[in-house]
Amino acid sequence: MELQRAASVLATALVLTSILAGRVQSVGVCYGVHGDRLPKPAEVVQLYKSNGITAIGLYEPDVQTLLALNGSNIGVLIDMADANVPRLASGAAQADLWVQLNIKRYYPGVSFRYIAVGNELAGAATQSILPAIKNLNAALAKAGIKVSTAVKMDVLATSSPPSSAVFKDDYMKQIVALLGATGAPLLVNVAEI
Ligand SMILES: *[C@@H]1O[C@H](CO)[C@@H](O)[C@H](O)[C@H]1NC(C)=O
Repeated sequence: MELQRAASVLATALVLTSILAGRVQSVGVCYGVHGDRLPKPAEVVQLYKSNGITAIGLYEPDVQTLLALNGSNIGVLIDMADANVPRLASGAAQADLWVQLNIKRYYPGVSFRYIAVGNELAGAATQSILPAIKNLNAALAKAGIKVSTAVKMDVLATSSPPSSAVFKDDYMKQIVALLGATGAPLLVNVAEI
């Protein structure tokens, strides 16, 4: 693996953190597929393995990357294009179709852990998060994959210490209540390198 390529993965890395019951933990390193000169998916999987990285975040369900992850045991956090969120919120059939195409096709060979519904959505789009999570939970049935959403630190009115975090908006309170009921962590983007 060329050093330059390894460096380009790190350059696109986004550290994702989850807050679950006041505990903060890092869940992995994100891999984007749209940067310049990114290494190929199979090389990325090898890079993660050789560095002992056990979880990967994908900004979208990229076919080549998912095929490369097949059988790797690397835990996958998968995001979706934000534009898909209202559609997934609109009904069970849409969520079933998304799960069929993007999850079931690769499961259980790919170790999906979390699905993030939207990445830092703002404004009216935030209203779609809760129904989309519910529809995806129903579509996933008992596959053991947790559905959550990724937010920026600024959804918190108070963020320190984590156990006393307070959410600014009501939609976040409802989402966090649902995540608590399903045992899914809230995903928080804490730093872009
Ligand atoms: C994943 O690997 C297994 C075992 O090699 C194989 O049977 C399966 O078809 C692969 N899945 C995909 C989606 O290619």
